[in-house]
Amino acid sequence: MTALRLDDLKQYSDVLRARDGRVVTVRFVEPRDAEELQNYFRSLSSRSRYNRFLGAMSELPHNVLDHFIHVGERDEFSVVATIKVDGFETLVGEARYAFHAEPESLEFGLSIDDRWQGQGIGAALLRNLECRAAAFGAERLFGDTLRSNDAMQGLARKSGYAFVTNPDDWKLVRFEKRINIAARDIPCASWRIAAANAALSAVAAH
Ligand SMILES: CC(C)(COP(=O)(O)OP(=O)(O)OC[C@H]1O[C@@H](n2cnc3c(N)ncnc32)[C@H](O)[C@@H]1OP(=O)(O)O)[C@@H](O)C(=O)NCCC(=O)NCCS
Repeated sequence: MTALRLDDLKQYSDVLRARDGRVVTVRFVEPRDAEELQNYFRSLSSRSRYNRFLGAMSELPHNVLDHFIHVGERDEFSVVATIKVDGFETLVGEARYAFHAEPESLEFGLSIDDRWQGQGIGAALLRNLECRAAAFGAERLFGDTLRSNDAMQGLARKSGYAFVTNPDDWKLVRFEKRINIAARDIPCASWRIAAANAALSAVAAH
């Protein structure tokens, strides 16, 4: 697994594009984001929240919010997608991912604010997660979604994921993809930093 410099999270930020070319920044969540993140989840439609958390939830329980804002604990990470609206950074999406060592894989969940759905942001964020997973050295990316969640299944299908039965819960469907990305295809800061660190270690070893 790649070691992240948690004292400088900003260096792992990426700039993506929505379908209309609008700039979307993806960055790790920081403790200062706690209130805005909670407001974001409260403002999601109940259907989106239900789909995101696979059950009814009006807001993040305190302990879950705490996990969200402490990036890197237990190999779990949260990112937010933001867009500048009238000069203000506005949170339009989020994703959370966890690294599993056996086999090396990344499990994730994500959401896009209802007002910003359908604009290619979910697809761009998912591609960015794939690059972050590759930087970790993960071989596979996967997630679980409700069988009734057409949007997530549509996004996963379009992004090249295969569907398998969830081993633990018949209400869920698992989507997964082997990571096979050439660095030039989907660059992200995590990848560039991991590659630079690997090159430095190789030089130091000689
Ligand atoms: C699922 C979700 C993340 C998709 O994000 P999004 O930004 O709206 O998706 P995009 O605009 O990038 O769409 C990409 C593709 O996904 C598919 N898709 C998106 N919304 C869809 C819908 N309502 N029905 C079917 N397919 C859909 C389409 O294939 C789409 O490509 P197209 O627009 O060229 O047809 C978003 O709907 C969401 O946040 N839902 C609530 C939370 C959730 O369900 N999270 C998943 C838990 S793992």
